[in-house]
Amino acid sequence: MKKILVIGGGAMGSAFTIPCLENKNKVSITEPYSKNFIKELSSKKKYHSSLQINLPKKLKFRKFSTNLLREKFDLIVIALSLKGIDFIGKELKKLKIKTPILVLTKGLKYEKKKNKILTISEQLKKNYNGMNISVLKGPCLAKELVRKNQTSVIIANKNIKIAQWIGNIISTKYYIIEFSKDIIGVEVCSAIKNIYAMIIGAGQSLNTSSSLFQKSIIEMKYLTKYFKGKELTTLGLAGVGDLYVSAAGGRNSKMGNYLGKGFTFKSAKKKFMPKDTVEGEQLVREIAPFILKKINKKKVPLMIKLFRTIINNKKLILR
Ligand SMILES: NC(=O)c1ccc[n+]([C@@H]2O[C@H](COP(=O)([O-])OP(=O)(O)OC[C@H]3O[C@@H](n4cnc5c(N)ncnc54)[C@H](O)[C@@H]3O)[C@@H](O)[C@H]2O)c1
Repeated sequence: MKKILVIGGGAMGSAFTIPCLENKNKVSITEPYSKNFIKELSSKKKYHSSLQINLPKKLKFRKFSTNLLREKFDLIVIALSLKGIDFIGKELKKLKIKTPILVLTKGLKYEKKKNKILTISEQLKKNYNGMNISVLKGPCLAKELVRKNQTSVIIANKNIKIAQWIGNIISTKYYIIEFSKDIIGVEVCSAIKNIYAMIIGAGQSLNTSSSLFQKSIIEMKYLTKYFKGKELTTLGLAGVGDLYVSAAGGRNSKMGNYLGKGFTFKSAKKKFMPKDTVEGEQLVREIAPFILKKINKKKVPLMIKLFRTIINNKKLILR
């Protein structure tokens, strides 16, 4: 039995506690940001409004504080959205703990000063001297995980033994874990698939979407290699695996569908998805300045077309 702290009481952080608890670990969850999640997780019933279930009674809610991070945990899991990474990086920097960290967050960050794209683990390592960071990615809708639908995900760490140790304490019959040393490839794929899910969603027939799917994989392979990940990782769970689930049903492909129907990004967002976070859009705004400057546009034509649509609010033309 290990002591696990999950930081982030959103859909994914909360869902992730289910396999952890099932493996007889002592699991605590904390929420540093959202009043709504704090209210729900600290209530007796632990009803989670995005997951639409009562979370297990065994799950312990802890108020977020720097002192909480100082307590002895065997594993700290970060399940905040990309916006929370700077915050948690600063919190962890204050401490000199060596606790292994597992990151569920997907995304990339553009560091303007160095004109460099950083993965989340690179961004955290910059701040957090412990360096013991693994990432978990792959096709895993939070809503399906809480219902114990079988899925496979991948944990990456250059030190594969640490990844395997984490896998051992969290895997269940329905939560199957693979391992990889290619931490950069896994992180790049899991972030850019949100952009390609939008592109595939824009296809207005299965035929069109299928050909966009195939072209998306070629671009993902190119980008993964460019950022020094392994091309083959694109064909794994963090790449094609996660792309399928995002393209088949998710907020990115839903937005893509509106773009494919001829709506501009702003009008589709306002009309159909005013309260939804579209992670692919956020990533476009984050990485476009770098990609447009540094990358051969002919190698990623679909991505460039989506940039134009989102940044300049133009109609999406994929032909
Ligand atoms: N939902 C899924 O099925 C799923 C699956 C796999 C991975 N993920 C990844 O997990 C991450 C979280 O996704 P989610 O679905 O739980 O999102 P969510 O919106 O349900 O929760 C977001 C979490 O981030 C916190 N947060 C938001 N803005 C913050 C800020 N400025 N500072 C500090 N904390 C902040 C929120 O309070 C909450 O804990 C994302 O990166 C997502 O890609 C989600």
